[in-house]
Amino acid sequence: MTTTAPPTEPATEDGKAPSTPPRIRLGIDLRSRRLRTTNRLVIYVAGVPSLALITVGIIVMATGTGGRDVIMGVLILGMALTVATAVVVSSILIAREAELARLQGEFVSRVSHDLRTPLTSIQMFVETLQLGRAKDAETTQACLDALGQETGRLLALVDRLLDWARIESARRIYEPRRCRAVDVVNAALDAFEIVRIQGEIELVRDIPEGLPDIDVDAQAIVDALSNVLQNAARYSQPPRKISISAKLVGDMVEVSIADNGPGIPSNERSKIFEKFYRGTTAKAMGIGGTGLGLAMVRAIVDAHRGSVRVEPNSPNGSVFILALPLADTPH
Ligand SMILES: Nc1ncnc2c1ncn2[C@@H]1O[C@H](COP(=O)(O)OP(=O)(O)OP(=O)(O)O)[C@@H](O)[C@H]1O
Ligand SMILES: [Mg+2]
Repeated sequence: MTTTAPPTEPATEDGKAPSTPPRIRLGIDLRSRRLRTTNRLVIYVAGVPSLALITVGIIVMATGTGGRDVIMGVLILGMALTVATAVVVSSILIAREAELARLQGEFVSRVSHDLRTPLTSIQMFVETLQLGRAKDAETTQACLDALGQETGRLLALVDRLLDWARIESARRIYEPRRCRAVDVVNAALDAFEIVRIQGEIELVRDIPEGLPDIDVDAQAIVDALSNVLQNAARYSQPPRKISISAKLVGDMVEVSIADNGPGIPSNERSKIFEKFYRGTTAKAMGIGGTGLGLAMVRAIVDAHRGSVRVEPNSPNGSVFILALPLADTPH
């Protein structure tokens, strides 16, 4: 295999090594930093003066002698409060945008790395076969199996990105139909069976046959449930146990998936549904991922007029609850 050395710089005329040019980080990270700077500017340029104006308004109202002074004070206060509210709202929006840009930057480098790893292995195995290094049928078969596995990993990742792109750009078409809730849950469990066996996961199910029908695109809900099941398998430690149950709550069927994993810190419970967000547990455990799974789950259930939420499980772990609309509920 050939490797390309980084280009070296020529020495300067006086023989000294050339000074390293300043290194600038470009791209999304830069955008995130710019947004944070803009945020600080907005706070200093508009926030501080509006606070000063609020103080002036209060002083005028408190020390004024006539009705005119009070009206003047109220006007100053009103104007200053409007500006202050605008500053707070725009500051929150800019901070959110900056955080999103940062997460997007992390996502791009993570996905590039996740694409590169299987590609490097594929290149290595192809070279082994091309150069005739696989001397016997057994080694050749091992190379072919590894090639199949790595190609599968690549395809799964690319499919996930394409799925997300379709969902985010509202190109995924849902075809809701009357379905038996138990059939939808069973289809998701069937798709999960291989992972369950490989991960030696104990599965406890409580899905009553008599549940009312739901009005959903069955494949989309199977995808959503599969994402939650995959997470339960991925983030819990042996001995793994997943419990799945369903019940009627108001005009929704609620499907709950509970695991005995590390759980999700309370300050992360709303963030994990944001696109690109990866939790501290996932990072600490060194588990890879795109950070898109739960964003997809939320987008799918929202499109069905349903909802998804997470609660702590007892004594440990998390419970993800998907609420799905009944078939006979008027839209
Ligand atoms: N069952 C769970 N137990 C503990 N943490 C979880 C669980 N499910 C999700 N998380 C946390 O929520 C984060 C977001 O999950 P999400 O499925 O969106 O992305 P991901 O699993 O990191 O990547 P991928 O898009 O490949 O699924 C995870 O990084 C993890 O920290
Ligand atoms: Mg996931």
